[in-house]
Amino acid sequence: MFTEIPYFRQELPADLNRVNAVITAQVRSEVVLIEQIGQYIIGAGGKRLRPITAILAGKALGYDADELYRQAAMVEFIHTSTLLHDDVVDESDKRRGRATANNLFGNAAAVLVGDFLYTRAFQLMVGAGSMKLMQVMADATNIIAAGEVMQLINIGNTDLTENEYLTVIQSKTAKLFEAAAQVGAILAQATPEQENALKNYGMHMGTAFQIVDDILDYAGNGEDIGKNLGDDLAEGKATLPLIYLMQHGSPQAADAVRDALTHARRDNFPRIHEYIMQSDALAYSRQHAQAAADAACACLQALPANAYTDTLQQLAQQSVLRLN
Ligand code: IPE
Ligand code: IPE
Ligand code: MG
Ligand code: MG
Repeated sequence: MFTEIPYFRQELPADLNRVNAVITAQVRSEVVLIEQIGQYIIGAGGKRLRPITAILAGKALGYDADELYRQAAMVEFIHTSTLLHDDVVDESDKRRGRATANNLFGNAAAVLVGDFLYTRAFQLMVGAGSMKLMQVMADATNIIAAGEVMQLINIGNTDLTENEYLTVIQSKTAKLFEAAAQVGAILAQATPEQENALKNYGMHMGTAFQIVDDILDYAGNGEDIGKNLGDDLAEGKATLPLIYLMQHGSPQAADAVRDALTHARRDNFPRIHEYIMQSDALAYSRQHAQAAADAACACLQALPANAYTDTLQQLAQQSVLRLN
């Protein structure tokens, strides 16, 4: 994935080595279980999109010091800890092509090691010596947590509106992309306009990314996405394709979705999948993701034109293309 983007073939391996060196050093602990689970989840890979966003934002403004890679690792630690917690909450068995940590080590261990990685991220953050950076991350992590709770209270809600859905995904997912881009900008001592442009880029890009993720939960290939399909439905989570069907689908489709959300069970998946495939739900969701990716790209106008802003543009567009 993303291999058509020149930066990904040329510079990214070296940049990720710098990030991974920090990650490997910082996941060390005297406590064996921390080291074991930390290595397990981090070693499984992941796309590293948030650290990449932070690095590209910094580089777009001519900044490339070691601190950029330390803070990129910090952002990945926050992401990783939210995944450990998220898989407990979602009762997910599979991530990054492997058994989830909760599946293998149990919920308690996954939550506690998630806490370790979360707090390690804050230790790394302090190292940057920037009150502004800490403010951005403190606000972002607080909003992510609120987003997850908002989603929780909307489990089984068949009246969830598209706007409410957008608020949830902007909080739980896009906020971290926004913060990642802002971290790069802050370290590079961006002007307020540049920082704002990068911040908005991250918000739109993260929104596109989560809509695509929600589409892939129905239309993806389990091998490619490394997760089980149907997790969202099994949980009773109304994502954009389902919201569309409830509002614009045939009466049978809308009823079936409402029923599946109220009585969340994994064996509803084939029926709902079929309704989705027979409708415009995925095309509609895709359009929404594409509009968000385009909005992300428009923000880049305010930045210097260079290889890194080009890459940010390609990254937003390719995030939508991973559907094809
Ligand atoms: C998973 O994010 C969680 C979502 C916000 C959808 P990614 O798809 O970026 O996860 P990894 O890090 O690449 O595994
Ligand atoms: C991702 O949300 C978790 C956070 C953003 C905190 P999801 O539950 O939608 O993502 P996946 O499908 O498990 O990766
Ligand atoms: Mg999940
Ligand atoms: Mg979740």
